[in-house]
Amino acid sequence: ATHKLLLLPGDGIGVEVMQEVKKLIAWLEKRGVASFALEEDLVGGAAYDAHKVSITDAAMARANAADAIIFGAVGGPKWDNVVYEQRPEAGLLRLRKELDLFANLRPAIVYPALADSSSLKREIVEGLDILIVRELTGGTYFGEPKEIVTLENGQQRAVDTQVYTTSEIERIASVAFELARVRKNLVHSAEKRNVMKSGLLWNQVVTRTHAAKFPDVKLEHILADNCAMQLVRNPKQFDVLVTDNLFGDILSDAASMLTGSLGMLPSASLGAEDRATGKRKAMYEPVHGSAPDITGKGLANPIAQIGSFGMALRYSLGLVEVADAIERSIARVLQQGHRTADIAALGEKTISTTEMGDAIIAALDRE
Ligand code: NAI
Ligand code: MG
Repeated sequence: ATHKLLLLPGDGIGVEVMQEVKKLIAWLEKRGVASFALEEDLVGGAAYDAHKVSITDAAMARANAADAIIFGAVGGPKWDNVVYEQRPEAGLLRLRKELDLFANLRPAIVYPALADSSSLKREIVEGLDILIVRELTGGTYFGEPKEIVTLENGQQRAVDTQVYTTSEIERIASVAFELARVRKNLVHSAEKRNVMKSGLLWNQVVTRTHAAKFPDVKLEHILADNCAMQLVRNPKQFDVLVTDNLFGDILSDAASMLTGSLGMLPSASLGAEDRATGKRKAMYEPVHGSAPDITGKGLANPIAQIGSFGMALRYSLGLVEVADAIERSIARVLQQGHRTADIAALGEKTISTTEMGDAIIAALDRE
């Protein structure tokens, strides 16, 4: 099969790290490992400069038609004074909203060679590979009423509302179970059913979804506060961790500190399943931004972007073995001591963005 990819490099180091993904794609094609129909378009400041919008309707149409979107990063001081509606981030928000990307996937992987840069002890994190699946479009951040009102006694009263419906929980739980099947087949679902009605419903719907569609996957329920503790105490007990928007925000940030640099963190956002094809809309992007402070210097670490591409292979394109091979190559390159500046220890020799990309391809070549 030919896989339809839309590349949206964006701004700053987004363009530089995407270059390394393009090299990797060219290598995969040359080796006959996979075949891609590649499209590329502008987003963010780059789209604004060319078209006065943060993303064009034409690019949105391409995004809708793609099997997966690989996104770089957007933004930079050049566009600080652009009207709010067309600021670079608006392009990213439009993609997330129109593709209804409700499931945010944040892996936390600790490569053995970098285990000492974790905030935890080596033996606790070495070889860690967990995936947090955060619900992204519901819950406390969006629930109504959401307001601050002034009371008769002069006090102010702030209200946020946690709202979840059966279908919202069912679809995020299904994503988590599906992903577990191409991983270690274990899902932890975190909520606070002991004190929250939404937690109780979450627990019930996850249990029902599991029984109806995914009985082959192992399911554990865990209270979200205990989950935070367990992530720090013994993170390797987890494989896939599914949770709501608010708990997911906090737990995924905590989990990211178990790993090394921002330059190492990939992510994905998945949308609804297409009834006809069974495929999900999906966008893959590094967690980091456009890093104007290092743009144009060859300093950017391309591993977060390459890792995001690897997630696309694994979760959207069904190329799990290729994704595994890329992961192994990244691990091997790090083991050999190759370091971009962001992951180098003081005094350690560093290599450039391009050299890191080349090293990963060379390691793949030796597989
Ligand atoms: P940032 O993630 O761009 O940079 C934070 C720090 O990490 C900088 O010192 C940067 O040099 C370093 N860094 C980031 N990625 C790296 C990599 N791959 N290799 C080595 N070092 C790396 O966040 P910042 O500085 O807050 O924002 C810069 C611009 O990016 C802003 O315009 C912001 O709005 C935008 N941004 C865009 C995001 C996106 O496109 N999804 C996400 C976050 C910020
Ligand atoms: Mg956060």
